[in-house]
Amino acid sequence: MVWTSHPVPRIVGQIRAPGDKSCSHRALILASLAKGTSTFSGMLEGDDVLRTAGACRALGAGVERLGVGRWEVIGRGGFLAPSAALDFGNSGTGSRLMMGAVAGFPIDARFIGDESLSGRPMGRIIDPLTAMGAKIDASDGQRLPLVLTGRERLSAIDYAPPKASAQVKSAVLLAGLRAEGRTVVREASDTRDHTERMLRAAGAELEIRREGPGGPRIVSLEGGQALSPLQTAIPGDPSSAAFPIAAGLISADGNVLVEGVMSNDTRSGLYDVLAARMGAVIGADEAGDVCGERTIDLHASSGGLKGTDVPPRTVPSMIDEFPILAVIAAFAEGETRVSGAEELRVKETDRIAATVDMLRVNGVEAEALDDGFVVQGCGGPPPGGGVVETRHDHRIAMSALVMGTAAQSPVAVDDLSMIETSYPRFVADMAAIGAEIRDVAA
Ligand code: S3P
Repeated sequence: MVWTSHPVPRIVGQIRAPGDKSCSHRALILASLAKGTSTFSGMLEGDDVLRTAGACRALGAGVERLGVGRWEVIGRGGFLAPSAALDFGNSGTGSRLMMGAVAGFPIDARFIGDESLSGRPMGRIIDPLTAMGAKIDASDGQRLPLVLTGRERLSAIDYAPPKASAQVKSAVLLAGLRAEGRTVVREASDTRDHTERMLRAAGAELEIRREGPGGPRIVSLEGGQALSPLQTAIPGDPSSAAFPIAAGLISADGNVLVEGVMSNDTRSGLYDVLAARMGAVIGADEAGDVCGERTIDLHASSGGLKGTDVPPRTVPSMIDEFPILAVIAAFAEGETRVSGAEELRVKETDRIAATVDMLRVNGVEAEALDDGFVVQGCGGPPPGGGVVETRHDHRIAMSALVMGTAAQSPVAVDDLSMIETSYPRFVADMAAIGAEIRDVAA
């Protein structure tokens, strides 16, 4: 079903950021591994997170929704063999982190997912977990569906992930909790550190250090550590907040406030690039600490945007924000160039191809690179008028609909049901700041 975002004269208003997806997955998994009752507020209730909740339940935790965003998890201090397959739907994070968490228990668990997830590379998780002693039987050795046979006592490893990935780091650390000896992960580039922060909040002892200035970040933990239950709110998602913020920036008359956004250097790449390199009018007020994370109220208003070269070292801290960056770049003056981002090829879809196609079908000149893309900014509203093929990718769908709020003509998407995975209130929140997103049939 086609949905269309119509150009509107202004984007003004205030909304609250939905719960962070990364933190919501981690909260459920850590609480299920702990012994006792954890309670959470502000949990993201997107499909990806609900899949993780379902998997936690299947592995023996008591997981209950108490009210909007309020969840209780009763962990047994370990996992039981699930009687059915763990279905992670579209969720790379849920499936990959859970593989690490399950690996330290002597159970068989079958991991399945939708077509997109079944096409995504799992070798990056299979390799280190196999080295630690888990047995993983995957379709073509690399992909879901797979059966993971865990082991009571894994062996610790000293691992340098070949690609910057918080999911890989987290899976190894979660397995490391149940390993004999000290598990070490060496990251050439810093990736989001929510697992480390939340493990500490749950009472785990972790060492985090850097090998020389600018050198690899080294995270290590001793095996055999038990986790304590958590009582906490989940901070707001900076990746979701990027959509209303972008709408405020590209509008001819934009003024948007998004409350309670997590501010963490490992996630703030887009905002840093916008403020420091693209001339965006963006600011923040402190909003307090939540779950070991700083939060801010973010505001953005329209202003002269200019293109930039995104420094490759910034890529991991904005890895999910490239489709929306490309939309902002389309409104900016001059060229924007992204490189060093080949990981985008293996996200929910090939996000380099999908992003470039999204722009081109709306009259913006854009070119795909092996490891990024180049956008020729229109110095104002791009033509629009296209129907974007979303390829089941929530961030492509939301980016295209944001573009439609300020393009010369409406922008349509072929589907928006998958937005449920990360931002179920997207259409309502966008309407609250003035967007007009409508089902074409309506
Ligand atoms: C995530 C890590 C990132 C990111 C994903 C969420 C996480 O993936 O793209 O949306 O919560 O750990 P990679 O670890 O593959 O970079």
